[in-house]
Amino acid sequence: MGQKKYIGVFDSGFGGLDILRGIIKTLPQYDYIYLGDTARTPYGTRSPEIVYKFTKEAVDFLFAKNCTLVLLACNTASSDALRKIQKKDIPRLYPDKKILGVLIPAAEEAVLRTKNKRVGVIATDGTVKSGAFVRELKKLDPQIRVFQKGCPLLVPLVEAGEQNTEAARLILQNYLRPLIAKNIDTLILGCTHYGILKRAVQNIVGSRVHVVSEAETVPQKLKAYLAKHDEREKQIGKNGKIHFYTTDLSPKFQRLGSRFFGKPIHAQKITLAARQ
Ligand code: DGL
Repeated sequence: MGQKKYIGVFDSGFGGLDILRGIIKTLPQYDYIYLGDTARTPYGTRSPEIVYKFTKEAVDFLFAKNCTLVLLACNTASSDALRKIQKKDIPRLYPDKKILGVLIPAAEEAVLRTKNKRVGVIATDGTVKSGAFVRELKKLDPQIRVFQKGCPLLVPLVEAGEQNTEAARLILQNYLRPLIAKNIDTLILGCTHYGILKRAVQNIVGSRVHVVSEAETVPQKLKAYLAKHDEREKQIGKNGKIHFYTTDLSPKFQRLGSRFFGKPIHAQKITLAARQ
């Protein structure tokens, strides 16, 4: 029997810890490695080429650390970089490994929920520009109409801990107004940081709009994936261990990381580099 493997969870910074928290609640038995590229966050304002380069380095690190499966918990990384890594790098470098993203689970949930086929998406500018949510939603149902809104102020707002202020409510209202005007009945929170805003968003859009949060949806989809892929599931260690790595170990990482994860975390600092 070979060495037991890990599930890797990657994000540009802290936000993925909210998704990891949801995953651990649903699947506490597995061993995980979390990597946050805090030295280079945010990704949402960067070009697709740079997001691909950084994400590929993170994926190389996680596979070298004995992950058999890597979840890109970052929406920006799941938008363009994921497809490129799946098509170009996995077959060449890691034919026996698997990489998943968070966009498809969120899109699947939205398609299940919408009745009027009008779906809103809020995300970083990078995710919106990639058109990845539109592509995935329309792949699932070509009749769906997608209305997107880039919300560049939300990540800094959440990171500053200002999400419960009146200013935050006004900013959110401003971002959501054009989507509400499009008569959406389902809204995807398409960014790791927005799960924390779910209640505030729900208050603004009203109860007739179903709000899809990845911290709730992704764990269920991962569970279903593992149930279907027995061979891979058997390789994963089941000691409930979690190792945290970050590219910048600042007091901010400890503080924000613990807030997103819901309990104190102890991370180890590493440096990412391109695989030769
Ligand atoms: N993790 C990113 C995402 O989900 C948000 C933060 C960033 O821009 O890096 O899109």
